[in-house]
Amino acid sequence: MMKVTYYGHACFLLENDETSVLIDPFLTDNPVVARYPVGLKPNVVLVTHAHGDHIGDAVAIAKDCRACLVSMPEIARYAAEQGVSLVQEGNMGGRVNFDFGFVKFVPAWHSSSLPGSNVAVGSPCGFVINFFDRVFYHTGDTSVFSDMRLIAELTPIDVAMVPIGGLYTMDIPEAVKAVEFIRPKVVIPMHYNTWPVIEQDPEEFQSQVKAKTGANCVVVRPGDAWEVPAQL
Ligand code: NI
Ligand code: MN
Repeated sequence: MMKVTYYGHACFLLENDETSVLIDPFLTDNPVVARYPVGLKPNVVLVTHAHGDHIGDAVAIAKDCRACLVSMPEIARYAAEQGVSLVQEGNMGGRVNFDFGFVKFVPAWHSSSLPGSNVAVGSPCGFVINFFDRVFYHTGDTSVFSDMRLIAELTPIDVAMVPIGGLYTMDIPEAVKAVEFIRPKVVIPMHYNTWPVIEQDPEEFQSQVKAKTGANCVVVRPGDAWEVPAQL
């Protein structure tokens, strides 16, 4: 059984009985995380960029779990300097193979700096993740861009996670356009309602996705999991 747990904001855990991949683990001080999840033991931690609401607890979790932290070179090297023993860097267009499949680095239009700093650290990215032959595209923080179509042409996407909160990322109209470009079977909205400045109605996104695209929009509440059906 494969499931996707949403911890709120941009944090997802992909898992089956043997392996788990944690993306952008912003858990401590995340207002929509009721309590820190116990028993989190990912094998791999992906970090899209260095902003605090994405790198979050990644270094601490990777150390605790001896997980492999995957990110752009500058962020991966930062994590290594912070004591993460297993890091894997890569860059746009690059692909890292794992027992579960692969992780591919794709562009994202955003910025990247460490918490408490205004100095740029690495470029932000998105990830295309082949997890036991199911393909996920976590766009990271980004605006919509037409090369999303190319990304999905190169690796057809089953499940896309796209931000809808606006201000720092796409808002609902842009995110609907992103779904038109990516053509996933399922889309899960993220990066909204964490704070008032990114308040959005996921049901509004859901109805626009239904009206304008062929994708099925699954709204997952923070802390809830979505079981990936055998047939998408
Ligand atoms: Ni950001
Ligand atoms: Mn963010």
